[in-house]
Amino acid sequence: MPPVGADSLNALRSVVAGYDKEQLLWSSGFLAGMAAGRVADSLSPVTQPVASPATSTWLIFFATETGSSRRVAESLADRYREAGLVVELHDLRDYRPKALARVENALFVLATHGIGEAPDGTEIFFEYWLSDKAPRLDSLNYSILALGDSSYVDFCEMGRVFDERLQQLGATAVVDTVECDLDYETPASDWTRQVVDHAASISAAIKASPQVSLLRAVSTTQAASRERPFDAEMLSNQKITGNGSSKDVRHIELDLEGSGLNYLPGDSLGVVPQNSPELVEKLLESLSLDGGQHVTVAGQELPLSDALTQCKEVTVLSKPFLDAVATRNSAMQKIVSHRDELSHLMKTHQVIDIVSDYKTAWEAQEFVDALRKLTPRLYSIASSPDANPDEAHLTVALVKYEQFGRTHWGSASNFLNAGPDSVPVYVEKNDHFRLPADGDTPIIMIGAGTGVAPYRAFVEHRREHGHGGDNWLIFGDRNFSSDFLYQIEWLRYRKEGSLKYLDVAFSRDQQHKVYVQHRVLEQAQRIYSWLERGAHIYVCGDADRMAVDVNKALLAVLRSEGNLSEEHAADYLSQLKSEHRYQRDVY
Ligand SMILES: Cc1cc2nc3c(=O)[nH]c(=O)nc-3n(C[C@H](O)[C@H](O)[C@H](O)COP(=O)(O)OP(=O)(O)OC[C@H]3O[C@@H](n4cnc5c(N)ncnc54)[C@H](O)[C@@H]3O)c2cc1C
Ligand SMILES: Cc1cc2nc3c(=O)[nH]c(=O)nc-3n(C[C@H](O)[C@H](O)[C@H](O)COP(=O)(O)O)c2cc1C
Repeated sequence: MPPVGADSLNALRSVVAGYDKEQLLWSSGFLAGMAAGRVADSLSPVTQPVASPATSTWLIFFATETGSSRRVAESLADRYREAGLVVELHDLRDYRPKALARVENALFVLATHGIGEAPDGTEIFFEYWLSDKAPRLDSLNYSILALGDSSYVDFCEMGRVFDERLQQLGATAVVDTVECDLDYETPASDWTRQVVDHAASISAAIKASPQVSLLRAVSTTQAASRERPFDAEMLSNQKITGNGSSKDVRHIELDLEGSGLNYLPGDSLGVVPQNSPELVEKLLESLSLDGGQHVTVAGQELPLSDALTQCKEVTVLSKPFLDAVATRNSAMQKIVSHRDELSHLMKTHQVIDIVSDYKTAWEAQEFVDALRKLTPRLYSIASSPDANPDEAHLTVALVKYEQFGRTHWGSASNFLNAGPDSVPVYVEKNDHFRLPADGDTPIIMIGAGTGVAPYRAFVEHRREHGHGGDNWLIFGDRNFSSDFLYQIEWLRYRKEGSLKYLDVAFSRDQQHKVYVQHRVLEQAQRIYSWLERGAHIYVCGDADRMAVDVNKALLAVLRSEGNLSEEHAADYLSQLKSEHRYQRDVY
């Protein structure tokens, strides 16, 4: 038996999940040093090293859902420490909102999710500070890095709104807010440099403490990272939807041996894709450009067709690209100036539709410059590393569809399906979608379509470790006969008892539509009794409709079964969230 409890052990595993071999070895030595009393007990990335009185502490806050803001914030904290500055790193999900009132120096790395909304779990913080109850913040110095995606009309909304609010409350922006698109690396590192320079310039006589250098030794950078991915060999690619299905979903297995990558159930795998060669060919045809002519991307000269295949986003639209089209096309000018039309266009069209339907003459270099950088896609890992050492399994829905008389190929899903020998990957850890530390705690897993992926990892993990907690899966898709993803495994698990309950909702098998939220409502009594006995509840898959409808269904369950008012039902769910018992991974 380990001399620490399951909670501590799980927390430790979670902290080191992204470490490579060298970092793990260093950490083991570090812990041994602590045990021998050679290292100050207080050493941890979030505690405060002893600071000289003249040194002010900088609090770095992040609000994330898919991990980028956390990564930027961690790297920012490293830069601060390297400059001999004192920092604390806080996830806004776990930060008591009122505590900000006492902070003097704060940096915020804030992502926007939903439709211009705060990342899951951080709503309580923002609700408080955007409300009338919020006190003045006259002594707060701050700066914000806003992360977003310019294919949404509410681009970087949270960063923008919070910046305005802090100014209203009297806080001082020491460096202007910077808004980043998906290719956030360059603006994020520029902003980092600016805020570090600012802090260093006002911080008098700072001496790097011994703790600082020790902390630097354990960098949070992973062996393979978004910037330096690992080439994982493709072991298997199997279609798991039946012949009659309207969808093509793939079970993909990748070999992580030698990567030094560690992951936990709940984490995602980042895939650095290449665009479909067929799509690039169609684009070149429509643009009447020669793929062999050379262009320059990030200082490197390469053929246009390579630039479009490997470097640039040629599927999802971005506002800067449409703005560039608008300078040459009056119809587009009208669209970009109307928020709703713009939003509709960005949701329904891809780059190929714009170059085909809003014809303008492009020089090769101009076209490439107007497009944003090709960014990695995330996939929930569908395997437990303990049940499948050195492997990561994915459940990938192929994005290939006909619209406006032309074929559209999604970038990463088609890249994975095209059978490359290897795929550049990294682990995106997600501490906000974790199994309970106590293996005896019951879990309710709700997911539609590929949203089932992490649950395969959850159940594999609990089986592998002989955890006795009850597992309940509520799965939805279109048709039983063709879309019951991993059907054989789930039925086997149910038979052997690894799954206590399995409820399915196949929307197109009957006249009226049945979705997972209907199963939640039908099972109201059991859901409520499981929650009352401490169950954790998970929701994974479609963000636009499924997650919203399941949330509504859960509120209805709490009202009917718990006899709660609307307000108290909402409080109950918020409480579950703050206890990390209601976790969502939606996209
Ligand atoms: C945390 C997280 C976990 C995820 N896990 C998974 C997972 O387990 N499995 C999975 O398959 N995906 C998952 N995704 C989604 C995944 O990251 C990709 O977004 C998805 O595979 C599409 O990527 P792509 O590069 O193939 O398509 P892209 O090149 O990104 O093109 C997608 C775009 O095409 C358009 N589009 C797609 N289908 C249609 C259609 N039928 N009609 C009109 N327009 C359409 C939309 O504009 C869409 O934005 C996850 C996302 C996140 C954030
Ligand atoms: C479901 C979903 C909804 C999103 N909504 C928005 C949005 O409304 N506005 C925006 O600027 N970005 C939006 N984004 C993009 C994220 O802000 C962007 O991917 C960011 O880099 C994520 O940061 P994080 O990894 O720290 O969560 C959305 C992303 C997802 C997956």
